[in-house]
Amino acid sequence: MCYYFLCFLSLSFLTVHSTDEPYMIRVSGHSKIFKGSLYLDTSWEKCIVVFKLSDIKCQFFAFQGISTVQESAAGGYEIALKIQLPVSKCPISNPLIPGPTYLTQTINNQLRTTTVSFDSKSKQYKLTYRVISCPENTKLFLRRGAKVCIGLFFFEDPRCNNYAQASALCKAKNGTLTGPANADEYKYIQNISNSSNYTSNPDSFDYLTYWIDGAGTNTAYTFEDPTHDGTTNYQWAEGVSRSKAAGQCLHNPNPLHVNISEYPCTATFLVKAVCWRGALCQIPPIIE
Ligand SMILES: *[C@@H]1O[C@H](CO)[C@@H](O)[C@H](O)[C@H]1NC(C)=O
Ligand SMILES: *[C@@H]1O[C@H](CO)[C@@H](O)[C@H](O)[C@H]1NC(C)=O
Ligand SMILES: *[C@@H]1O[C@H](CO)[C@@H](O)[C@H](O)[C@H]1NC(C)=O
Ligand SMILES: *[C@@H]1O[C@H](CO)[C@@H](O)[C@H](O)[C@H]1NC(C)=O
Ligand SMILES: *[C@@H]1O[C@H](CO)[C@@H](O)[C@H](O)[C@H]1NC(C)=O
Repeated sequence: MCYYFLCFLSLSFLTVHSTDEPYMIRVSGHSKIFKGSLYLDTSWEKCIVVFKLSDIKCQFFAFQGISTVQESAAGGYEIALKIQLPVSKCPISNPLIPGPTYLTQTINNQLRTTTVSFDSKSKQYKLTYRVISCPENTKLFLRRGAKVCIGLFFFEDPRCNNYAQASALCKAKNGTLTGPANADEYKYIQNISNSSNYTSNPDSFDYLTYWIDGAGTNTAYTFEDPTHDGTTNYQWAEGVSRSKAAGQCLHNPNPLHVNISEYPCTATFLVKAVCWRGALCQIPPIIE
């Protein structure tokens, strides 16, 4: 028992379960070109990238560990890639279901993609790998196909500034202003905003707040980032005005509460009390 748990931990295969991803890519074949592997005495349901040797033995390959699989006749050797199950939860029923030809996993703020293609001439499956990661101080989030790195960016001089400068701050990083696209993102945003009060507050303002995506045009808010579904997932502070008036912009957290609210776009600071300290930006991920 302990043996394979230790093994999984040391390889940091901490996977995030995503219901609309395949559990498994399963093909008939055996390992052809690979860098290294482990042999485990365990049933192959417990392996992640595996070449099945018998019902109780399998050869284990880590991400990027194998590049070619030689096809065998059906019913012969089988190799499978299974990534989406959390390691502490093995499937109850047989997980060896055929899936599409790619799979993804999110580990340590990286999105790892494995793609399998078949070359009918050589009867070989080629495995190619891609890693998508985020620049320092940003976190990777997946938004219905879009991959974004979200973080707070701070004004330098002056340290408190307006919405136009917030937008420019994001654009300087090849990004845009953004806002929460779901509850997980909002939790992350709230946490980094709160921490910044202790780490990025040299002028000791009572509250730091950040411009987020949304500027009034009298009838609606306009957005720079189309991937967070407008204000759908914005959590509003109680009782605040949502006038959508021209010249009104959105920021988070509200200085009096915790949630999002509206304020004149030209605001920079309120003496000793509030500083619009920067911007919540989404910037492009790094694709290796
Ligand atoms: C922004 O994109 C341009 C062009 O792709 C690139 O040259 C530049 O290094 C990028 N800047 C940053 C801060 O990533
Ligand atoms: C909250 O943010 C701080 C600073 O960015 C970080 O060290 C900490 O791990 C975060 N906590 C959670 C629960 O995300
Ligand atoms: C805000 O950060 C401080 C200091 O890190 C911490 O003590 C406090 O619990 C945090 N509050 C929230 C609401 O996360
Ligand atoms: C921010 O830090 C100041 C002290 O520098 C503290 O008085 C204030 O309560 C903090 N604000 C929040 C929202 O935690
Ligand atoms: C923040 O938003 C949540 C959800 O809309 C709401 O339940 C809560 O009362 C709000 N908190 C404040 C202080 O406005």
